Amino acid sequence: MKTDMTVKIGTLKLKNPVMVASGTFGAEYRKLIDVGSLGAIVTKTITLKGRAGNPPPRVAETSSGMLNSIGLENRGLDDFIRNKLPLFPSGKTALIVSIAGDKETEFIQMAEELNKIKKVAAIEINLSCPNVKHGAREGLVAQDEEASYNIVRAVRASTKLPLVAKLTPNVTDIARVAVAVEKAGADAVLAVNTFAAMAVDIDTKKPKLGNVTGGLSGPAIKPIALKMVWDIYNKVDIPVIGAGGIMNYCDAAEFMLCGASAIQVGTATFVNPNTACEIAAGIGKYCAENGVKKVSELVGNINIGAL
Ligand SMILES: Cc1cc2nc3c(=O)[nH]c(=O)nc-3n(C[C@H](O)[C@H](O)[C@H](O)COP(=O)(O)O)c2cc1C
Repeated sequence: MKTDMTVKIGTLKLKNPVMVASGTFGAEYRKLIDVGSLGAIVTKTITLKGRAGNPPPRVAETSSGMLNSIGLENRGLDDFIRNKLPLFPSGKTALIVSIAGDKETEFIQMAEELNKIKKVAAIEINLSCPNVKHGAREGLVAQDEEASYNIVRAVRASTKLPLVAKLTPNVTDIARVAVAVEKAGADAVLAVNTFAAMAVDIDTKKPKLGNVTGGLSGPAIKPIALKMVWDIYNKVDIPVIGAGGIMNYCDAAEFMLCGASAIQVGTATFVNPNTACEIAAGIGKYCAENGVKKVSELVGNINIGAL
């Protein structure tokens, strides 16, 4: 039996639920893997103007994971549209552009520009950017329900493209922020970005990252990310996209059973560039072997009856 692998995220229809996560995948991978076997590609987060990013070292390996503090280095929207966008293959794999900004007006301008580009299938709003309130930096946008609501609402009014709101796990109750972005008009909520973390070299006594602190990703965060997806799934009606330490199709299936309609693969791509493609094939095989007619049947289908 062949399983229907398609997934709907608002008006966006994906050929399967597997995406590659922002910041971990570039157009150059088209030379290495069969990009067309993925549901979607999410670009690295772009900002209106270019950013230099954080001082090196920007990555460090940790037990069962990695730290990064890239600091949203990119050359800005215009350069992205002119030089990067054409390199992504056109076809049935959706291209989702991740955006961030310091001000609401920057998000709006980017959303309006991207709205005009046919190749762009959806916008992912990276809410893990500084929350600039009263001119002072006060944590991240996604740590503030009201700020998250305002950004998503402003982007919603600026584009017809499907919107994915990406949340930070560095909060007490992620489901509250998910509810806020749902109210603001997001078509889907994505959990999670990286966990605030650090590591120290005990010989030099220096932090392993030039920025001192960074974000933890990879298998180390998977069980926590999974619980956050479950919490969000129980509070919102829009699709949830799961990310955090997904290394193989079993991890992906776990996320779907806990409520994720689709999943993203990040750090695992650095271990094996073909991981996301292998996960797409693996989920298909898992469904076929378990008599699943539509992959969406897995979503939230965790059996929480008596063990
Ligand atoms: C090197 C690196 C760069 C990243 N850059 C971005 C980024 O630009 N925008 C973003 O929203 N998330 C970024 N992320 C976070 C990932 O998209 C993902 O949410 C997170 O790493 C958890 O998934 P994983 O454990 O599968 O990597 C980055 C992660 C890594 C490891």
